[in-house]
Amino acid sequence: MDSILGFLSTVSWWIWLLIILLIVAIRDIFIQNAHTISHNFPIVGHLRYWLESIGPEMRQYFVANNREELPFNRIERSWIYASAKKENNYEGFGTDRDIYAHQHIFVKNQMMAYKIGSGHPNKKDNSFLPCAKVMGAYNQRKKPFRPASAINVSAMSFGSLSAAAIESLNVGVAKAGAYHNTGEGGLSPYHKKGGDIIFHFGTGYFGVRSEDGNFSMEKLKTLVNENPCIKAIEIKLSQGAKPGKGGVLPGAKITPEIAKIRGVEVGKDVLSPATHKAFDTIPELLELIEDIAEQTGLPVGVKGAIGKLDQWEELADLMIKTGKGPDFITVDGGEGGTGAAPPSFADHVSLPWVYGFSSLYKLFLDKNLTERIVFIGSGKLGFPAKAAMAFAMGVDCINVAREAMMSIGCIQAQVCHTNRCPAGVATQSKWLQNGIHVPLKSDRLAQYFKTFRKELIEITHSAGYEHPCQFTMDDIQVNVDDDFLHSDLKSTYGYEKSKVDFNNMQELYDCEFLGGRDFHGTIK
Ligand SMILES: Cc1cc2nc3c(=O)[nH]c(=O)nc-3n(C[C@H](O)[C@H](O)[C@H](O)COP(=O)(O)O)c2cc1C
Repeated sequence: MDSILGFLSTVSWWIWLLIILLIVAIRDIFIQNAHTISHNFPIVGHLRYWLESIGPEMRQYFVANNREELPFNRIERSWIYASAKKENNYEGFGTDRDIYAHQHIFVKNQMMAYKIGSGHPNKKDNSFLPCAKVMGAYNQRKKPFRPASAINVSAMSFGSLSAAAIESLNVGVAKAGAYHNTGEGGLSPYHKKGGDIIFHFGTGYFGVRSEDGNFSMEKLKTLVNENPCIKAIEIKLSQGAKPGKGGVLPGAKITPEIAKIRGVEVGKDVLSPATHKAFDTIPELLELIEDIAEQTGLPVGVKGAIGKLDQWEELADLMIKTGKGPDFITVDGGEGGTGAAPPSFADHVSLPWVYGFSSLYKLFLDKNLTERIVFIGSGKLGFPAKAAMAFAMGVDCINVAREAMMSIGCIQAQVCHTNRCPAGVATQSKWLQNGIHVPLKSDRLAQYFKTFRKELIEITHSAGYEHPCQFTMDDIQVNVDDDFLHSDLKSTYGYEKSKVDFNNMQELYDCEFLGGRDFHGTIK
């Protein structure tokens, strides 16, 4: 034995290297048959696979220009990062965008900007921007809710996001007076850190699921009674990235904790079907909405991505006939994000936000229903000028998902579906999520929301208004094409939004249904 080891120790390092390369070459040519390139070009073929695997990072860091990447380009990401860290988020020397490009939007400024008086709520807090409408007011729900922030965290479940990420978002919304939508995975302990909650469920009914996988009203009632942080309920019909597509949460991701929260078995794949079991028709959906509102006292809404309009029209007609209906509608754009979806769905099914929202809003406007509903928009709307456009088109609140993820450290690695998120945001790996420091990240989410609201308020003042709900379709221009050059939203989308019943910010501040009590208590 000693003589063999003695002989091996005399072999120089480059002979060892040659032996290893020879073994790799033999494996490439004679043993493996999965990779043609490695077989045909042994050893060097590996370089191609390696370079391909690091290609996205190389392009992101060195090659792509500032406005080139999707879903969010470097300028957009940097604005969120800087805003979240309260760093300098300005740009010097003027815009680097082609402001004559197709679909570029302009907000029309007023000759003299809106001036706020000395006692104005925005003097005390320059980011105070609640929703101008009250959810559940029209339908006289027992517990109406005025979201205390016009920008909020969109549906993302515990399961798709890590516990540390959910906790950071929840503590963050509490610090910013916003609400946190639970997403499909049920209400977890990480959602109960002080923020207002919109409890969301989809076809899997996680957290409110009966033994046979159907919706359980009893469980929902218990959940609402035990958790006063729940301010409203959202029924998910579809989301922009995968409308009409169910989901699979692989058994490997079902930890005992997730199983308990979702009401499913540990280690077994969980399928959320493409369609609901609790209703099949529009009248049945309306019945469920009313039933939930009656039993819980909370406002109830629906979330959907927009494509065909006939069933929405049926809902609108039924609302006229019965005098009932959802308290809010969340419209998600086809550009919306997801934990995982087939590219064919994410790229092609459902309309982009501007087309989907405008057609749905117009439908409700033509039937005089818009005042009964709080409209919420989501789909890359987490930037102040985009939000101004959305308000002009008729939204009352904005939900953000990926922008909120970025504010707590997401680097747009686009691997949410692999459980290997390097930032610890969209993974269940304990090691990866341990890198998230909740007190710091929650501050970042809160600061992003505050900076966002402050800039949206400033744009609003520049246009001569006090609250963004006062924006009209005439206030925003969009570049269309060479024949028409540019046109206001009213001509482009063919409607004028209905006037929101807004008097002044002080009235919103004094509203008894205003959410985010702890947060706003501190500025009184
Ligand atoms: C990781 C992740 C998980 C999501 N989970 C849900 C979900 O459970 N239910 C849902 O309706 N939408 C879900 N969405 C969609 C978002 O709520 C939102 O509608 C969409 O991403 C558009 O907003 P954004 O452009 O600000 O990201 C998810 C999105 C992401 C990125």
